[in-house]
Amino acid sequence: MQRLHDKVVMVTGAASGLGAAFVRAAAQAGARVVLADIDDAAGRVLAEALRAQGAQAHYQTLDVTSETGWEAAMSTVRERHGKLDVLVNNAGIALRGSVADCTLADWQRTLDVNLTGVFLGCRAALPLMGAGGAIINVSSVYGQVGGAQVAAYCAAKGGVTLLTRSAALHGATLKPPVRVNSIHPGFVDTPMVRDALDQRDAGGGTARARIEAFTPLGRLATPEEIVGVFLLLASDEGRYITGSQFTVDGGITAQ
Ligand SMILES: NC(=O)c1ccc[n+]([C@@H]2O[C@H](COP(=O)([O-])OP(=O)(O)OC[C@H]3O[C@@H](n4cnc5c(N)ncnc54)[C@H](O)[C@@H]3O)[C@@H](O)[C@H]2O)c1
Repeated sequence: MQRLHDKVVMVTGAASGLGAAFVRAAAQAGARVVLADIDDAAGRVLAEALRAQGAQAHYQTLDVTSETGWEAAMSTVRERHGKLDVLVNNAGIALRGSVADCTLADWQRTLDVNLTGVFLGCRAALPLMGAGGAIINVSSVYGQVGGAQVAAYCAAKGGVTLLTRSAALHGATLKPPVRVNSIHPGFVDTPMVRDALDQRDAGGGTARARIEAFTPLGRLATPEEIVGVFLLLASDEGRYITGSQFTVDGGITAQ
């Protein structure tokens, strides 16, 4: 039996990077997948490609910051599938800025997408979940340790870390229980970071070289290297895991 046989798996931010890797893996593992994003063009192309490979996949426009958007997305999932087994709150943005120079607009936008979007997703998904229900929130190592140039991002991802634990405690009281866990990637080679990686700074170095130097495994991750933890948490193999943080960072936070 495939690991996610007949499970309905919805991933936000599914059109790119980690989200795209999660939906590909879920479809391959036998899930019916719902791809949610604001990038309609890329999301539709990926859903079509998955259908061409025989998967049940549909694309759903969803801005995770919109309460009514979540309501509409969940009614579509209910109509199409009658249930939701796994929600991956993955959509996110990375706006740079230290606490001294982050604009209020960047601060609010970051918290809206990266934290409020996760809260709205958890709240909207719970009523559709039954036995085996699991929510996976994509935080970051910046939800565990600080980064000077990413103040708003750290605040939002740290919020996701503890929102996950709070939601897990609530989820454990439900009958049947819903498990809630967070994944904390280090640096992953996706469009989110790629543009900034190879630009030369004043000293002639690149962000890629600096990341490689301080990552014990000596390189960035590929999105596929985060998939193993996702499959564990989404599948029944993870049935006793809730309220946990899964760091996948090549050793960065071990230092
Ligand atoms: N790439 C990394 O190094 C890294 C490290 C740690 C954590 N993360 C987290 O992983 C998640 C995925 O990041 P990625 O690297 O794949 O980025 P990405 O930019 O490749 O993909 C993000 C996706 O989210 C979508 N999105 C953005 N705002 C949205 C909104 N309001 N509603 C719905 N969708 C929206 C984008 O359209 C895009 O498809 C994010 O939460 C990010 O913070 C990434």
